[in-house]
Amino acid sequence: MDATTVVLFGATGDLAKRKIYPALYNLYLDHKMPESFSVIGLGRRDWSDAFFQQQVKDSLTTFSRRAIDPAGLNAFISAFRYSVLDVDRPEDYKTLLQLVEQREKELNIPSNRMFYLSVGPEYFDTIASNIKSSGLGSTQGWKRLIIEKPFGRDLKSAQELNEKLSKSFEEDEIFRIDHYLGKPMVQNLEVLEYSNPVIHALWSNRYIANVQITAAETVGVEERAGYYDKTGAIRDMFQNHMLQLLMMTAMQLPKQSTPEEVRRKKKNVMESLRPLIKEDIASNIIRAQYTAGELAGKPVQGYKDEPGIKATSQNDTFIAAKLWIDDYFWKGIPFYIRTGKRMKEKSTRIVIEFKEPLEQYNEPHHESAQPNLLIIDINPNEGIALQLNSKDSLNQGQFIPVRANAFTNAKEMPEAYENLIFDAMRGDATFFAHWDEVELSWKWVQPILEAFEEGIIPLQSYAAGSNGPQAAHDLLGNHKWWLDTE
Ligand code: BG6
Repeated sequence: MDATTVVLFGATGDLAKRKIYPALYNLYLDHKMPESFSVIGLGRRDWSDAFFQQQVKDSLTTFSRRAIDPAGLNAFISAFRYSVLDVDRPEDYKTLLQLVEQREKELNIPSNRMFYLSVGPEYFDTIASNIKSSGLGSTQGWKRLIIEKPFGRDLKSAQELNEKLSKSFEEDEIFRIDHYLGKPMVQNLEVLEYSNPVIHALWSNRYIANVQITAAETVGVEERAGYYDKTGAIRDMFQNHMLQLLMMTAMQLPKQSTPEEVRRKKKNVMESLRPLIKEDIASNIIRAQYTAGELAGKPVQGYKDEPGIKATSQNDTFIAAKLWIDDYFWKGIPFYIRTGKRMKEKSTRIVIEFKEPLEQYNEPHHESAQPNLLIIDINPNEGIALQLNSKDSLNQGQFIPVRANAFTNAKEMPEAYENLIFDAMRGDATFFAHWDEVELSWKWVQPILEAFEEGIIPLQSYAAGSNGPQAAHDLLGNHKWWLDTE
């Protein structure tokens, strides 16, 4: 792997501590970091290198997936430097450039620079243009820009942001993180289909009755009231993570698993997604907010009583949608998607429900049969289960559902951020969100945002600790959501 300088904006922030340093450290333990690298942390606080290095160490002690190996820790930490930077001050970028060049000289490495913007999206544009004007972006080797969501808050703002970024970075230099794409089971979806003829053969509207994608969380708004109350489930989870899961599930297998091919296939899904017209929105989209309830035996307050949330807030903490992909493979099959905070269990799961062919047979017990299911658990469990019908000899030959399960030990699996940072350092953009996908997602979501603003979709409520509002269950008609607590 190419020797690299990681330039990290937002080095004193929460994401860096919780996710980025532990990811770099675990990659290091796995010998997946370049032989020579430095990490230059940036922030407004006036920290020394030694203080910064201690902060990184502390974050590893708290958040690393693997135990700290004292023997190698100092070598890892010695790669970290700190520089004070106010994103609006061009002089600070000059100082940064000197430090970057000095480190490249010390290590005798080419100028391959990975600029990681772990900061609010309002700073993306300023930072990117300063990287260009200061000369930091004029490298002999490669340069890359990693940014986090949210990428805009609607179609127009996303387009404007992209326009601005593209003045300093080419599309193939921009790595937009959607951490759901870094989750091992999401990265496994394509392999699951192409390496298993038994799944591949059934992967279409001929055998599938519906596809369900759930990302249920038990946490509430946490300490992010200011951000979340302006964002809601639609912008926080649906436009990005949920639509990315949809693309990954529904895309046709690429001939080759190259970033270009995968992106093309994902784009095809978004282009085939039936646009929502205003009259249909209320019957296909459910939005809701949690009220007080009980979770794991403890009372929890409602959204409007959370610190920092206005008592009149109309923000959604839950979204469910019924959508259709009008291509040859999926035509006629509904996709159901939902995500919500303060739900009964933490579960990110894709369920493929198969059609019921039993009606053709005059089987005495066929009414006790359950549909066959392929269950793909993404988080917190990672695994695959196939639900089949079997004869229950203890119960007059009724049918009984049995599950063939394969679970992996999630603790041993790399975290999403490890996979993504590793790929970005290698320049592999397969599991990053391309601008085309982001733009198409906003285009699809835009009428929903407008309908929300116009009050066309009523805000439903659900008790904290439940599986969402009744309307989200009604969306499925004769079918049901398949979560274990459903
Ligand atoms: C983030 C959202 O992108 O994803 C959070 O901003 C949410 O609100 C989180 O809690 C969920 O991620 P995960 O990996 O825990 O499912």
